[in-house]
Amino acid sequence: MGSMNGKVLVITGAAGGIGEATARLAHAEGARVVLTDRESGGVERIASELGEGAIGLAVDVARREDNERMVSRAVDAFGGVDGVFLNAGIEGEVGPFESRSDGAWEKVFDVNVHGVRHGVMASLAALRSRGGGSIVITSSVAGLRGAAGLTPYVSSKHAVVGMMRCLAAELGPEGIRVNTLNPGPVDNRMMRSIEDQANPGHGEEVKAMYTARVPIGRYVTNEECATMAVYLLSDASGGCTGNTFVVDGGLSAQ
Ligand SMILES: NC(=O)c1ccc[n+]([C@@H]2O[C@H](COP(=O)([O-])OP(=O)(O)OC[C@H]3O[C@@H](n4cnc5c(N)ncnc54)[C@H](O)[C@@H]3O)[C@@H](O)[C@H]2O)c1
Repeated sequence: MGSMNGKVLVITGAAGGIGEATARLAHAEGARVVLTDRESGGVERIASELGEGAIGLAVDVARREDNERMVSRAVDAFGGVDGVFLNAGIEGEVGPFESRSDGAWEKVFDVNVHGVRHGVMASLAALRSRGGGSIVITSSVAGLRGAAGLTPYVSSKHAVVGMMRCLAAELGPEGIRVNTLNPGPVDNRMMRSIEDQANPGHGEEVKAMYTARVPIGRYVTNEECATMAVYLLSDASGGCTGNTFVVDGGLSAQ
């Protein structure tokens, strides 16, 4: 028996990175999954690789109606929703606070904050009709501490920690748990983008500098984050709500 047997999950940002790894692990553990991302190609390919019990769907999390469509698809195809992994996010542009335009702030907040808000709103009725469930939001260590040059991203990742804490208090009595996954630097596309923007043409040097701050001596992996996400989405974490779950190789210990 897998830890996710019988569960239906909806996952955003599932075309790569942490979202894809979580969809693959949850499916292997017995979940039926709706994988969503901005474009249908990647998630449809992964869903067809996974086979029965997996669906790929194009969803822009910044659009309320797309979130509603995502939940409806899960209910129509699999009969309900037990877990929601609100993981889609963008890093935005790296640069000094004063150089960030209104548009740059809005873009990051539309996806990283309002995308999460729409995802929660769209899924509540379905979770209630199952008698409860688990919502996991991907924040970051950038949701717990600052980082020069990343003000919109860091602010957005703090915002969803606040949202999670309020929601956990409001929804706990209904059996709906809400937590954040807070990864440190992950060895994937998003970190390549941040490294290259921080020092164009010298991303490898930036990576070496960041890595030197991580006690385990490396970035964490998509799969290590997925293990935590699946735990939080499973009944094994039934006593956990309203908290931040850090996977950062010890970065924030210092
Ligand atoms: N990579 C890291 O080091 C790191 C560290 C901490 C937190 N995070 C967070 O983890 C989450 C997953 O990122 P990742 O590391 O797997 O990188 P990623 O860029 O591979 O994954 C993010 C996914 O979100 C999707 N996405 C972006 N905007 C979207 C939108 N409007 N609608 C739907 N999907 C959209 C992207 O297409 C992409 O597939 C993000 O929220 C990110 O902020 C990442």
